[in-house]
Amino acid sequence: ETHTTHFTIDDEVVEKIFRPRDEYSHKGSFGKAGIIGGSYGKIGAAFLSVKAALKSGAGLVFAYSPKCGYEILQTSSPEAMFIEAGEKYIEHIEIDQDLVLGIGPGLGTHHETEESLLKLLKNYSSPLVLDADALNIISKDPSYIHLIPKNSIITPHPKEFERLFGKTKDSFERSDLAVKKAKEHSIYIVLKDHHTQIITPDGNVYYNITGNSGLAKGGSGDILTGIITSLLAQHYSPKDAAILGVWLHGKSADFAAEKHSKESMQPTDVIKELENTFLYIN
Ligand code: APR
Ligand code: MG
Repeated sequence: ETHTTHFTIDDEVVEKIFRPRDEYSHKGSFGKAGIIGGSYGKIGAAFLSVKAALKSGAGLVFAYSPKCGYEILQTSSPEAMFIEAGEKYIEHIEIDQDLVLGIGPGLGTHHETEESLLKLLKNYSSPLVLDADALNIISKDPSYIHLIPKNSIITPHPKEFERLFGKTKDSFERSDLAVKKAKEHSIYIVLKDHHTQIITPDGNVYYNITGNSGLAKGGSGDILTGIITSLLAQHYSPKDAAILGVWLHGKSADFAAEKHSKESMQPTDVIKELENTFLYIN
């Protein structure tokens, strides 16, 4: 039984993690990210995640989405490659590349989607990022949680956390339960909230202080998934990708709020502000 240490993610922590881009590089140096998500009516969630992954520095980004998202994604994110994975929702996922995966935004929980996610998890042993409906699918059966590869990152909001691990009285009890579950399953838990906490498999807690209520809008979480997946593809460790990703997301939201107000700022504005956040830390 190890002791829990609490850290605050300040500029000093971020400076230690962030690696400026090597000039002697090519797109292969920065990895391949694959975003698996989207379904009819929720292609926007996949778009936000893909766009955020592109804006966070990955060398290549692949969008695994149903056919109904083809024109939307190719038009809105021409830099990303599209892989058809179903008609109106994801029915099959064939990964034949060394991709780092982020799964869940707008995914839906259809039976075929569930089957293809389970099959993927059974055949995949590298750390990946799981969010939104990927977590809701995993919540359907208590045995599914064991399929998550070690050192993966899950990004539940409080309701998704509750579906996965059960009810808690308050945010303190939730944090304690997250520590227990992160250790038990050897995963990183990004406990999303006003102040998001990252819980490591060794039971330490990293507390984020960037971000604001302008993020309390549909789509904000999808961006975080794209950012963290992109960093993981760029060979940041899962711990560093989660910490840096959550900080970047919040800091970009703070820049967006200054420019557009917390009320009017949109998730797409947060993606746009990633450029100022990277200028800030470079
Ligand atoms: N202050 C700071 N950050 C906040 C605040 C706040 N008041 N409110 C939200 N955030 C941040 C969270 O920390 C998280 O990073 O915004 C993000 C919200 O993520 P989600 O809750 O996953 O939201 P999102 O997925 O974009 O939209 C809601 O989740 O439950 C599903 O299907 C539902 O489509 C819906 C979606
Ligand atoms: Mg979400």
